[in-house]
Amino acid sequence: MCFPIPDNIESLRPYVPGKPLDETKREYGLSDVIKLASNENPLGPSPRACAAMRAAMAEVALYPDATGFELKQALAKKHGVSPQELILGCGSNELIELLIRTFVAPGDSALIADGSFIIYSLALQAAGRRAIAVPLRRDDWRYDLPTMARALDDTARLCFIANPDNPSGAIVTRAELTDFLEHVKERFPKLLVVMDEAYVDFVDAPDYPDSLALRAAHPNLVVLRTFSKSLGLAGLRVGYGILDARLANYLERVRMPFNVSNLAQAAALAALTDSEHLAATQALNRAEKAFVLDGLAKLDVDVIPPQGNFVLIDTHRPSAPIFEAMLRRGIILRPLLNYGMPTCLRISFGLREQNRQMLAALEEVLVGTPRSA
Ligand SMILES: Cc1ncc(COP(=O)(O)O)c(C=O)c1O
Repeated sequence: MCFPIPDNIESLRPYVPGKPLDETKREYGLSDVIKLASNENPLGPSPRACAAMRAAMAEVALYPDATGFELKQALAKKHGVSPQELILGCGSNELIELLIRTFVAPGDSALIADGSFIIYSLALQAAGRRAIAVPLRRDDWRYDLPTMARALDDTARLCFIANPDNPSGAIVTRAELTDFLEHVKERFPKLLVVMDEAYVDFVDAPDYPDSLALRAAHPNLVVLRTFSKSLGLAGLRVGYGILDARLANYLERVRMPFNVSNLAQAAALAALTDSEHLAATQALNRAEKAFVLDGLAKLDVDVIPPQGNFVLIDTHRPSAPIFEAMLRRGIILRPLLNYGMPTCLRISFGLREQNRQMLAALEEVLVGTPRSA
């Protein structure tokens, strides 16, 4: 069949997710596998979220509340915004796509950092929209906002900033962000700056910017959050955005109705009330981050100081055989070839025993694999 495929779709490479647990067990004949590849919550979901889901199961024959009324009310209260400033999505991933579909017209573009979260460039390419891509700094994989500001042109409608970034785990500081925002305010009034804050609950850097507070001076800010990480609901697919109410209304027009299921809405609402589960998640992450960093310091790798629930390591060896050798030992890490980081791996922080096993296996693998020249 000679069916024409648009060029932007023909050249699209699918997103490569973390290797699934069951697939790894099957392929390697293992009964126990540790997945440290997708920055999920090692404590699992909040028990309150599970109870709410069980109760909501009786309603799955019905379509969910298309407006997400209750969840928006709760989020509005939590963040001190109006429900009209909120948009709900099937994960924050959907909101990235929705922002592009809604605000980037043919001929317009979006500014991204090459080496940051890959969904931005994939979603732009899928939509047939141009990316203005500026590489992350090579020495520390941090956003180079001054160079990004210089790369902007009048076609740019969106700028995506992952803060903390994935896969580097590094942050954009308050001073860096405000300099950038002041620059664009004067010269690029048609640009929305999207702060993608999937890992916000894990940050302990004192110079991390409060993007919600910055919205008062910079109404062109859009803040994305997710229930997938600290709130342990990755499998349910629910995230949200906070932005100017007039702009949110356009997103509401474009999004598909019922994009957040009734189970997801019920669980998300309950998870917001479970401050104990969030505190336990944060405490675990703090302890395990320290434990893993301490272990990595004894190995032959370089580490980017992390602010999320994962760490980027440079092994100075091709990562594919290391990834493979770790799989054979029942541990799934995340190789980053598609991020242009062929010697790096990303490791999520797990439970103590999982981290202990990961460090022991990694030591063994690294000792057996000489550094590339
Ligand atoms: C920086 C960043 N943004 C957004 C997401 C998407 O999260 P979700 O679609 O699960 O809300 C992720 C997931 O890994 C991420 O790392």
